Amino acid sequence: MSIVLDVRDVWKSYGELQVLKGVTFSVGEKEVKVVFGPSGSGKSTLLRCINMLDPPDKGEVLLKGQSLMEDGVNLTMMRARIGMVFQQFNLFSHLKALDNVTIGPQRVLGLEREEAVDRAHVAIEQVQMTDWIDHYPAQLSGGQQQRIGIARALAMDPDVVLFDEPTSALDPELIGEVLQVMLDIAQAGTTMIVVTHEMGFARAVANEMLFIDDGIIVETGTPKHFFTAPENERVRQFLHRLEVLYGGQESVEQ
Ligand SMILES: Nc1ncnc2c1ncn2[C@@H]1O[C@H](COP(=O)(O)OP(=O)(O)O)[C@@H](O)[C@H]1O
Ligand SMILES: [Mg+2]
Repeated sequence: MSIVLDVRDVWKSYGELQVLKGVTFSVGEKEVKVVFGPSGSGKSTLLRCINMLDPPDKGEVLLKGQSLMEDGVNLTMMRARIGMVFQQFNLFSHLKALDNVTIGPQRVLGLEREEAVDRAHVAIEQVQMTDWIDHYPAQLSGGQQQRIGIARALAMDPDVVLFDEPTSALDPELIGEVLQVMLDIAQAGTTMIVVTHEMGFARAVANEMLFIDDGIIVETGTPKHFFTAPENERVRQFLHRLEVLYGGQESVEQ
């Protein structure tokens, strides 16, 4: 399996606050990695370091073998190959759903309008929003907005898509439709890094889960490993808290 993304010993601080303390992992083609861990542990910072919105202080990030941190690298084009789905959707409120999806292919990839629209239709179909392309974000539910957010990422035909707690801003009854779309695109072979506490999603599609605490990857393993025999005490406590808060069938022996 070829490596799509290689994160090597990434460190990041904000002033005195050391947030990431040497994070290393890689993602292979068509793999889904789920990152989870306490609030403030550095998950969003890690994603921002990966797409260089916030470059690491130290370490390396390679996309298909090409360092994103080398001098002279075309960051705009490299970033275009890394999709990002945010907690707060971040759609342009003055653009219809369709144009939220075509704007990247047109502006960043330089596609003609017609080609961008064709691509957008395919991506919007994947998130089952075809009937809503002429609606503005304010006319869509949160779940629908997030599905357009996912279509926007897919329309760029990225090498990997990063999701930062994509369902945590949604009302509970809207979470399922977004998770379903994420399951669909995972099964269709999208390479993904997903920060989420949705353990049902993790169980269904994660090739590997990474537990991050205080800027360090504390434990990694398959969903089966985490749901049956997590080794680290902090991991056990965290999974137990999730179970208490969200219920579900995931049982972690204490
Ligand atoms: N731009 C920033 N400036 C200063 N501190 C930040 C910044 N971004 C994040 N932090 C701090 O870094 C730590 C990790 O934040 P974050 O990566 O958002 O954690 P998580 O996503 O795991 O909740 C937190 O203490 C947060 O306050
Ligand atoms: Mg975060």
